[in-house]
Amino acid sequence: MQPRSARITGWGMYAPEGVLTNEDLERLVDTSDEWIFTRTGIRERRIAAPHETTATMGAIAAKRAIATAGLDVDDIDMILLATCTPDYQLPSTAAFVKEAIGNRRAAAMDLAAACSGFVYGFATADAMVRSGMYRHVLVIGSELLTRFLDFSDRSTCILFGDGAGAVVLSASDEPGGGMLGADLTADPEGAYLIWVPSGGSASPPSAQTVARGEHFIRMNGTETYRYATKTLASTALTAIERAGLTADDIALFVPHQANLRIIKFVAHSMGIDMARVYVNVERYGNTSAASVPIALAEAVDSGRVQIGDNLVFVAFGAGLTSAAAVVQWTADPANGVRARSVAPSATVHLPPDWRAAAPVPPQLVDVLARRNGPSPVAPLVPLAPKVRA
Ligand code: ACO
Repeated sequence: MQPRSARITGWGMYAPEGVLTNEDLERLVDTSDEWIFTRTGIRERRIAAPHETTATMGAIAAKRAIATAGLDVDDIDMILLATCTPDYQLPSTAAFVKEAIGNRRAAAMDLAAACSGFVYGFATADAMVRSGMYRHVLVIGSELLTRFLDFSDRSTCILFGDGAGAVVLSASDEPGGGMLGADLTADPEGAYLIWVPSGGSASPPSAQTVARGEHFIRMNGTETYRYATKTLASTALTAIERAGLTADDIALFVPHQANLRIIKFVAHSMGIDMARVYVNVERYGNTSAASVPIALAEAVDSGRVQIGDNLVFVAFGAGLTSAAAVVQWTADPANGVRARSVAPSATVHLPPDWRAAAPVPPQLVDVLARRNGPSPVAPLVPLAPKVRA
């Protein structure tokens, strides 16, 4: 049976405890805190510990979103995970999230649209729920970018960080609320502006591709910047128009957190005061598909979102993709406290005869050992003591 609406009922996030500051990066490449902060607005980003993966981080955010929604894990019908840094090429990372959260019945798949992946996934989940196909869809953005960075390339390694965010989208018999309009775009003209040259079928992994550093993210920052400032505004405005609204009707913009200059430029070009824009890039850097759901969870838990508010999620990324969704908020923000009981821990099984290579980039081993502890900026939702799931 088709529901009358599809609404966000749960939200949650997870950021690993390890912190990589601009000062740490000054010791690795020829850069400075002043350059990074002025050009990007970033002061620090999180880095995953050796035992963490995209799946385990996504699972913690997912468990928090399920707790916030007040659902049982087995209520989830579909797990949709957006990432460009999966645990493995095969199988999907979503399958491991299913194991880590202890769900026994959901379908599970990954979605690749880079930094726009969460918003692409959200629009996909909305269609699944509205059609009556599923009642509760978990949409996760999870990224472990620090394992795909060249820590001798100052133009990329300063930008990215690790983390995960998730929402539960649920069928409702109440009319109204949920996604009011969306716009998803892809422009292959810019396909090589942000890419990982090798590891896929076009250039399979070999000793040569490793030696040439072709498994790391490469980016033309200037061209990407130019594209982002154009497309973020046009995508957001198209989604707002499809929702039958104007920019003045939007209570809060939740943009992809790539660069504060890009966010400010876009807000200015749309005539939006920064008071209506949620920003946390200073603390997390660019977490790609995780960036919008992390920002959303923080915005709700810090009292920036009220029932009835119209929100805009908007992102751009490799592809080149861009995506925007206008959402009318319907959930009680106070439900966020339920996530406090979820321990920041998740595990998946490994084959008995398998021994993975050391996963942490050598340049980060000392940083993790020295700084592995809570960020100087306290998380919004206090974390429960660590236990193994
Ligand atoms: N520290 C110091 N100097 C640096 C650094 C650094 N970390 N990086 C570059 N520079 C230098 C350059 O070498 C250049 O020097 P030169 O003038 O002597 O040649 C100078 O700084 C200016 O470099 P630009 O690249 O022009 O700097 P710009 O102001 O454009 O900022 C940046 C670079 C921050 C990367 C910007 O272009 C940007 O944010 N682009 C968008 C990137 C992005 O958001 N990507 C997201 C999508 S990712 C995804 O989907 C997975």
